[in-house]
Order: sequence, then C-alpha cells, then structure tokens
Amino acid sequence: MNTGYLKVDPEKPEENIIEEAAEVIRAGGLVAFPTETVYGLGGDAFMAESSKKIYAAKGRPSDNPLIVHIADIEAAEKAGSDIPGEFYLLSDAFWPGPLTMIVKRNPDMPLETTGGLDTVAMRMPSHPVAEALIRASGGFIAAPSANASGRPSPTTAKHVKDDLDGRIDLILDGGSCSIGLESTIVDLSCGKPQILRPGFITKEMLEDVLGGVDLDPTLFKPSAGRPKAPGMRYRHYAPQGEMHIYIGEQQAVSSRINAELDKAKAYGRRCGVICTEETKDKYAADMVVSVGSREDVKGAAAEIYSVLREFDDRGIEVICSEAFSEEGYGLALMNRLYKACGYQVVRV
Ligand code: TXA
Ligand code: MG
Repeated sequence: MNTGYLKVDPEKPEENIIEEAAEVIRAGGLVAFPTETVYGLGGDAFMAESSKKIYAAKGRPSDNPLIVHIADIEAAEKAGSDIPGEFYLLSDAFWPGPLTMIVKRNPDMPLETTGGLDTVAMRMPSHPVAEALIRASGGFIAAPSANASGRPSPTTAKHVKDDLDGRIDLILDGGSCSIGLESTIVDLSCGKPQILRPGFITKEMLEDVLGGVDLDPTLFKPSAGRPKAPGMRYRHYAPQGEMHIYIGEQQAVSSRINAELDKAKAYGRRCGVICTEETKDKYAADMVVSVGSREDVKGAAAEIYSVLREFDDRGIEVICSEAFSEEGYGLALMNRLYKACGYQVVRV
C-alpha cells in the first residue's frame, strides 16, 4: 500500500485536507493524526473491519482494546451505556483533553473495537486536527497510538512513518505533540474510580473533582498481579538496548552510572545515558541526552519517546537512565521509564 503524507496546520487545519482524511476513514481506511498526547492511528470505531485493520497494521494483539475518540459529549451515549455521574464531572473538568474514561460498552459498539470487552474507553482530544477529523469522519474514531506494537509511542509524524509506512492509507503531519505521553486512563465501570494508566491528568487532579481515586496496584509492582488495561500487560515502550534506571542520591547515581559505562565500554558496547541539564556534564558515552531541567517534568515527558527512538536509530546497546520524582505528573514519566526498562531498577 502507498501511504499518503499530508502536512496540516496544527492550529487551523485546512478544510480540504481534513475532508480528504475523513473520506479515507468513512471508506473504512486508516489515517494517522496528531493529538495533544501522541499520534493516533484512526479508523471508524463503528466499523469492525476498520478496527481489524488497525490491529493488523500495528501488529497488535486483538484482545488489546482501542480508545474511541469523540468530539462532543452527546457521542458518549452512543459509544457507552449506563454512564455514571463521575463521567460527566470529569468530562466537565478535563475534556477536551488528555483523559480517557472507561464505562460500559453500548451494545452497538463492535467488540472488535473494544478488544472483546464489555466496556469501552473514550477520550475527547483537544488537538484541533483531531477534533476536526473526528467531526468530519462521523464522530467516532477508534485510535491506538500510531506506533508498531512494542515500539515507543510516536510524538512526530516521522515516528509514524518510520513504523507504519506502507501499512496505512494516510499520515497527517501536524508537527510534534505537546504532551508526549499517552492520556491518563481512569476506569469508571466498576465501583471506585481507578487509574489504569497515569498521565498528564494526575491522581491529585482527579481527586479534586471526585474525592478518592485508586491506582491500579500493578502499575509500579508487576508482581502485584495482572494490570486491568490489557495494553499495560505487554512489554511496551521498549528500546532495543538493555536499559536500567538508577535511583538514589544524585552524586552516587552519577558515579554508579559512570562505573557501568566503563564496564560496557570495555566490552565495546555502545552506551547511552538519559539525564538532566544538572548532570549532563558528568557523563561520557556514545549518546548523552539531557531531557531538560530536573524540575521540569513536563519537558522531560515531552522528550522521552523521541529519545528512546533515537537510541534505537543509533544502535545504542546499553542505556543508563537517571530517575525522576514520582510526585504528581512525575508518576506518569516514571511509569513509562519503568516499562521501557522492564522494571530493571538499581537502587544506589
Ligand atoms: O493518549 C492516548 O490515549 C493515545 C491517543 C492516540 O489518544 N492513545 C493511546 O491508545 O494511547 P493505546 O491503544 O496505545 O492505549 C490504550 C490503552 C491500552 O493499554 C488498552 O489496553 C487500554 O487503553 N484500554 C482501552 N480500552 C480499554 C477497556 N475497555 N478496558 C481497559 N483498558 C482499556
Ligand atoms: Mg499504545
């Protein structure tokens, strides 16, 4: 398949380009498009065949449900059913934006889209291109992140092209995604709200609206059981190199990372370091990447997937990462880093 590629204005998307992309989706095809979190790979959520194509293009297991993207609140009733009051409290507070909510599935929503589950995940993105495309395509776009399964989520159209060129109909290039980590997922389908995937909308922000909110205990302890979001069970965001996270007092961490780098270099292995402006001068490696100031979690989160992809592009075999605070939004960043390294943590 020849994959089309169109640049689109991220602030004021050109109508003719949105119309061309919407036509592809209405005809059952697949379009990658920017959102404020990461690029999505979209198909019509009500067409079972489109959802099947999404799984095939990504190489994704078909029991891993897709998020249904909507552009107005009325659409929620058509995708879901028995929608609880919490859903409307949170949609008032955070939609459009980087929050996904899980409720009971509407019987009309194909099981192919929900990965066979009787629940459905919904999100109303705030990116103007995403919003325009959803409206023009009929109101319901099923979209996972537009990466090949197992690769870091794409935050630029180039990342999408690297993974999916020749496998989908069209890529809309609207520049880089401002947030850079996938949406927060909160499950409202069974009793007390539970965060299945941390993101930009933090536990504290959700609790300000709802009161108590739980965290899926498996998020930081894989031994705690089976994650409730099927996608969190797979090894994800995985760079090709062997990665460890070093946690501890900054000076000790830097010394330990340098010792590991010396060892790896002695074996002739290509090494990379993920660090911050405050520490970047302490390391010598094939790639030393500062993701910004230690205080700026937003900045680091926006960079992290690009950095992991660049390590792969440059054939880095050993990756040493510093750790970040797990306060607030830092929890989401650390969750992705833990997953990227398969929970290989070294406490210094
Ligand atoms: O920011 C985002 O959410 C991006 C953009 C494109 O919107 N999308 C995204 O989709 O990250 P994806 O498919 O890569 O991740 C969706 C996650 C998966 O872990 C999936 O298992 C989980 O959501 N999920 C979807 N529906 C679910 C459901 N009904 N119950 C539990 N988990 C669900
Ligand atoms: Mg994904």
